[in-house]
Amino acid sequence: MSANGKTIRIAFVGAGIVAGPYGKAVPRIPNLEFAGAYDPESGRAEAVVKSLGGRVYKELEEILGDKTVDAAIVMTPNKFHVETALRLMESGKHVLVEKPIASTIGEIDHLEEAARKAGRVCMPAHNYIYAPALQRARRLVEEGAFGQVASAWILYNLFHSEELAERYGGVLREVCVHHAYSIVYLLGRPRRVSAVASRVHYEKLTCEDQVMVTCELPNNALAHLWASFAASDPTSDPWTVVYKILGTKGGTCYTWNEGQFQNDGGPGWGIPSYMESFAEELDFFVNRAISRGDTPLSTLDHARDAISIIRAAEESIEGNKGLVEVQYAN
Ligand SMILES: NC(=O)c1ccc[n+]([C@@H]2O[C@H](COP(=O)([O-])OP(=O)(O)OC[C@H]3O[C@@H](n4cnc5c(N)ncnc54)[C@H](O)[C@@H]3O)[C@@H](O)[C@H]2O)c1
Repeated sequence: MSANGKTIRIAFVGAGIVAGPYGKAVPRIPNLEFAGAYDPESGRAEAVVKSLGGRVYKELEEILGDKTVDAAIVMTPNKFHVETALRLMESGKHVLVEKPIASTIGEIDHLEEAARKAGRVCMPAHNYIYAPALQRARRLVEEGAFGQVASAWILYNLFHSEELAERYGGVLREVCVHHAYSIVYLLGRPRRVSAVASRVHYEKLTCEDQVMVTCELPNNALAHLWASFAASDPTSDPWTVVYKILGTKGGTCYTWNEGQFQNDGGPGWGIPSYMESFAEELDFFVNRAISRGDTPLSTLDHARDAISIIRAAEESIEGNKGLVEVQYAN
């Protein structure tokens, strides 16, 4: 993590579960100062401020009007991401926006236009690809170290109670969006996808708690994307979150199971490789994207591609259509 550069003052907008890993990352990032937090639910911003310092903002407007705040992390429920990020950029703040940053391509175009007009960074919080092992995987793929890529797997198995899952909706948009931007980042855009979804353990929720998506990749490679809130994997070879890429001359595997510790927060907070992805992402946002003007590893184009893939998967599921061509925005 880089140590030189201007100090960036950052605010949290939304202080729920995912504020946990961001809060743990903040003290590790050079040139970053915590300004404070806003959350409409009483006690949540207060809890964050108690551990990180800064102030409690009572309204979003107080952050918009605070000239000492340079940037914000938008971690509201999904439906508020776009409107909140637009208001922040209009008031001159850089934004790191949690995934899925928007639900349509048109909304992402809108965010891009607002960032351009304001001269501010709008960076999708695609934290998974900031894991150093995945950056190495991409470099090795690009260098041809694995020969011709033949296959890839991205698997996610973390049990979420119905009470916890209630705030997120179906796993396709909520979790598989990580897989979609990751596959684009690592191996390029899938041409066609075929998807199946199911609901295993929800009694009240009507959305899916499991989904599998098969992708046809460039050069005839195939990828399997799997996300489940229905079961954790306690077996001797656990697939908590696994990325595997195989080629004609080699391959690579990255797994969250390399280390774990007892945690006091969300389902993944005791997994160091997951926590590390937030710190790497936040460091890039502050010390490269904002301070140096570098293009993020996670771009708005990746966010557009991820939505296009999810949309094609939805079409495959809803219409029971088998393979569906992915319609990309550009
Ligand atoms: N990158 C990851 O690995 C990861 C993990 C979990 C969640 N997320 C994403 O983070 C976001 C938040 O998820 P969460 O798990 O923290 O959910 P959460 O429900 O625990 O927290 C959301 C918080 O936003 C607050 N809020 C509601 N409306 C708001 C508004 N208009 N302005 C500001 N705050 C508002 C709520 O009171 C709540 O405290 C979601 O978009 C989710 O998809 C990402």
